[in-house]
Amino acid sequence: TTVEWEAESYDMGGHDTYMHKEIHEQVDAVDRVLRGRIDDRFSTVHLGGLNLDAREARGVRRVKILGCGSAYHTGLIGAQLIEELARIPADAEPASEFRYRNPVVDPDTLYIAVSQSGETYDTLAAVQELKRKGARVLGVVNVVGSAIARETDGGVYVHAGPEVCVVSTKCFTNTAVAFALLALHLGRIRDLSVADGKRIIAGLRKLPEQIAEVLRGEEEIKKLAAEYANAKSMMFVGRVRGYPVAREASLKLKEVSYVHAEAYPASELKHGPLALIEPEVPTVAVLPDDDLLEKNRATLEEIKARSGRILAVAHREQEKADHTILVPRNEVELDPILMGIPLQLLAYHTALALGRDIDKPRNLAKSVTVE
Ligand code: G6P
Repeated sequence: TTVEWEAESYDMGGHDTYMHKEIHEQVDAVDRVLRGRIDDRFSTVHLGGLNLDAREARGVRRVKILGCGSAYHTGLIGAQLIEELARIPADAEPASEFRYRNPVVDPDTLYIAVSQSGETYDTLAAVQELKRKGARVLGVVNVVGSAIARETDGGVYVHAGPEVCVVSTKCFTNTAVAFALLALHLGRIRDLSVADGKRIIAGLRKLPEQIAEVLRGEEEIKKLAAEYANAKSMMFVGRVRGYPVAREASLKLKEVSYVHAEAYPASELKHGPLALIEPEVPTVAVLPDDDLLEKNRATLEEIKARSGRILAVAHREQEKADHTILVPRNEVELDPILMGIPLQLLAYHTALALGRDIDKPRNLAKSVTVE
């Protein structure tokens, strides 16, 4: 069985779908996850419910993040942020895989369960298995007082507000921001400098206005969606910071539009998926302006050489791409947060062009509370 939102009880606020409303709510939602948490004096953030003191935070040797679906993808972004800002080895894994493989539970590892609903059965079962083995588990959760929030030792609330559409948008973004806060907090307890703390804080503060700027480009993205909606399949690629964005964008597109999509690390294309490239299989390339941009451009050339069409999401116009969706620059560590947003709009407008049931895609549920 599944939990159904009582969708009727939430106002659509003039939008035709909850998905559209929730995409546009991100400006305010991100503002909410930041509010009251930034500490300018020490260039860090306060996370009231974390329940992890500085001494404990210093003792963490690894971080393991667990979740399902979009939550798992935010975990991939979170793991990168924790590695980059706190220099703690971190990775993310689907909760369902983790719980079934008799995981080795290490006392120096900090486990983090991520969930919008806080009720996903596989994620909850992973938390329970970890707790039974004596691990410390934190939650990054949206719904206050949910099962995962209650079972974990502490954590960070995401404050996205109620998300009604089955596919996650504002909660995805807010969870990624919550991970940036956690990474900054852990980083400042460890070796992240005051200057870098300030830099990340300034970047976080810019996010709401930059999200608004991305959303102002909706008409252009709508045109692109109409152009790509009849694709046989879509390929999503990125390297390191771009890769989790590609994963989530590919999931979003298939969930809501039913267009087949695959996500690959850009460097893996040549190890198989290049065989799929043809004009009917366009590629969406996520290209932050970081030290991997040149490598990513080489990938675009490989795709072009196979007559593949390319839609780039980047900070500057990409001449190898057929179209570029421009995203404002922020700190490179925060690029995954902003770069996902135009691709939510792409999935939305593709689904709209194809006449899909956007808020309730076939075969899916908002919250999967069974095995
Ligand atoms: C379902 C939804 C997904 C969601 C996943 C995890 O599969 O359709 O959109 O990402 O569950 O949900 P959670 O509530 O744990 O984030």
